[in-house]
Amino acid sequence: MRKRLLKYLACPACGGSLELSGVTASDGSHVLEGDLACASCRAQFPITRGIPRFAAVERLDADKAATAANFGWQWQHFTQEDQKYNDQFLGWIAPVTSEFFQDKIVLEGGCGKGRHTQLVAAWGAKEVIGADLSAAVETAFAATRHLDNAHVIQADIYQLPIKKEVDYAFSVGVLHHLPDAHRGFLSLAAKVKSGGHLSAWVYGAENNEWITRWVSPMRERLTSRINPRVLLHLSKLPTALVYLATKLVYRPLNRVAGGRVARYLFYNDYLLAISGFGWKEQHTIVFDHLVAPTAHYIPREEFEQWWRDIDATEVSIQWHNQNSWRGFGRV
Ligand SMILES: C[S@@+](CC[C@H](N)C(=O)[O-])C[C@H]1O[C@@H](n2cnc3c(N)ncnc32)[C@H](O)[C@@H]1O
Repeated sequence: MRKRLLKYLACPACGGSLELSGVTASDGSHVLEGDLACASCRAQFPITRGIPRFAAVERLDADKAATAANFGWQWQHFTQEDQKYNDQFLGWIAPVTSEFFQDKIVLEGGCGKGRHTQLVAAWGAKEVIGADLSAAVETAFAATRHLDNAHVIQADIYQLPIKKEVDYAFSVGVLHHLPDAHRGFLSLAAKVKSGGHLSAWVYGAENNEWITRWVSPMRERLTSRINPRVLLHLSKLPTALVYLATKLVYRPLNRVAGGRVARYLFYNDYLLAISGFGWKEQHTIVFDHLVAPTAHYIPREEFEQWWRDIDATEVSIQWHNQNSWRGFGRV
């Protein structure tokens, strides 16, 4: 943890200021081992291996603990980086562009392995704070510790230990994995200062009926419950099907006749969007869809209501890849 982060932290229990104490290890840039104590309620939060820990995973509800365990494993295994993350991320947060981040205080709700935290730091944010509940923070910290403006914390999105001083908060692919997605959205929005901005990307209910009908029951009853190491191998079979289809059918067909034939293919927009990725990334995507204990598919109407609930203005809600919703607005 960089000491500068203290300025933006607040006790998740009472909102009080946090004080650093008991530092036993540091590397010149980061406090590696120490404690944070609330000046008001005296709650204590350890800093271990460079990361402030605000969520005691062993005290979580069972559904959140299972989600954290599975995603923690996922992001400690799939640590690869990919040039295409750049465009993929901008696709999830459009109309935000890379220039938008300049000099902003940014909060990421559910940073996973830190791939977007890294990009935001490189795009000139004043500070970017990536928060995640799971052990994915270990990967995120390793990936960002060399970046002077990047910070990683382990925290529950429902109880973010952050002051309401954020210029821009975003969450990509996280809210729909929460027991209550709407509550996560409200919690993230609550950290954005007046006049700041918010982005959220969630799975859509529309056009995903085949997933909710056929894939979700299998995910809930089987694939999210088995050992991730076993799932890693089992998921190679569906990955092989996706890989062959995207490389041999979707990509080539989208290149002929201006894509007029390809647009009749099943789930074309999404499969085309991932067709440029190699095996490892496609395996990550397939694994990601099978490992989550909880996944909600959110109808447009419900998503629109979320933005009304926070009285957001200048709201833009767009259908992305024909299977998901991306929203952006001023808070
Ligand atoms: C599908 S991953 C997406 C990660 C990242 N946004 C990305 O796109 O690379 C979902 C992430 O949400 C995190 N997560 C799940 N529940 C959470 C919670 N209650 N608070 C914070 N993060 C949570 C998981 O640990 C996981 O890293």
